[in-house]
Amino acid sequence: MEGCTHLEARAGGSVGEGSPDLLDLLGDTRGILSSLDVGSLLEHLAEALGSLIRIDGLSLKLVGVTEELLLVRRGNVFKREIIYGSRILTPSSFAQNALTKGDPLVIDDIASATGYTFPTYVKRENFRALVAVPLVSGTRQIGLVTMYLRENRQISGNILAIISIVASVTAAAVENSQLVKRLEKNYFSTVEALAAAIEVKDPYTRGHSKRVTQFAIALAERFGVSGSEMRTLQYGATLHDIGKIGISGKILNKPGKLSDSEFEVIKEHPIIGERIIARVDFLQSARSIVRSHHERFDGTGYPDGLRDEEIPFLARIVSVVDFFDALTSDRPYRKAYSFEQATLLIREGIGREFDPMIAKEFLAMSSSLVRQDESDKSKFALSTLT
Ligand SMILES: [Fe+2]
Repeated sequence: MEGCTHLEARAGGSVGEGSPDLLDLLGDTRGILSSLDVGSLLEHLAEALGSLIRIDGLSLKLVGVTEELLLVRRGNVFKREIIYGSRILTPSSFAQNALTKGDPLVIDDIASATGYTFPTYVKRENFRALVAVPLVSGTRQIGLVTMYLRENRQISGNILAIISIVASVTAAAVENSQLVKRLEKNYFSTVEALAAAIEVKDPYTRGHSKRVTQFAIALAERFGVSGSEMRTLQYGATLHDIGKIGISGKILNKPGKLSDSEFEVIKEHPIIGERIIARVDFLQSARSIVRSHHERFDGTGYPDGLRDEEIPFLARIVSVVDFFDALTSDRPYRKAYSFEQATLLIREGIGREFDPMIAKEFLAMSSSLVRQDESDKSKFALSTLT
């Protein structure tokens, strides 16, 4: 079910009763620290807090981010929701009050609390009590975690103290994940600049990497690819031809047909490309896409002559969209093919160049491709992206 996490909601003890299993809690905080995305972080947080107290809702709101992430208990599982354009941090909100105060804010009875505003889901979910804990990194407020309860309860000082410790671990994890994201973004900007360098060397490929990436992502979505696998595809598709940097411009831009020996040189670009990105840690998973995007389904491609499912799935996706975009673009030695000619060649290549399942899905998707703009009729883009 969409938005449903597989996290089992812990029964939790009554507030102020019993004592949490500290070993369990320690294990959960390790999970929090190792989370690199806020979704899994929130799930680990629910696990950790669930060992202290029976929670019915948990929200994470980061300063400067418009979305709020919310887990809501449905029976024995938590469902994840994203509240877009969340206005939880408005001046009169309980959340803003907690942030300003800098300490945990406990509201035992939401219905009788005056002077605060609450998000609309509080009423919808029948939340009766809450504990809001600011996330602080150094002196900087970075967000707010709010636990919701469907029963009015008193919360003991001990439990509150442990919640504050868990919150400080959470703040460190958020900082960590934001740092990793920033690093990856910076790395990737550098790599994109490298990809742009191919287009300077080979002007006929202008925009090619970007279009191939957009088409590949749209096609992969139709196969349910998501998360880190999608990020791998984004990196691999953007950089699939990066190895052309190592190929002579004379060969790349030759107006006539390539000789056999020149074609042998061109065929080295997937291996050169793989070698270039092999030194970059976060691009490891994209190596096989760069190396194998010219393999053919019947085993007659290069550089390794892989066939069928020996060719990595994401490389098979890039292979089809790369072929389409290359054909519908002008090249030094020929004019661009029309949309009809290009899709006909893909249809004819099913089972030879292309994985039948992927090629057929691309042809089904191709109805959503439109000419990019009137001045450049040869190029196509996804209609949803124009
Ligand atoms: Fe290529």
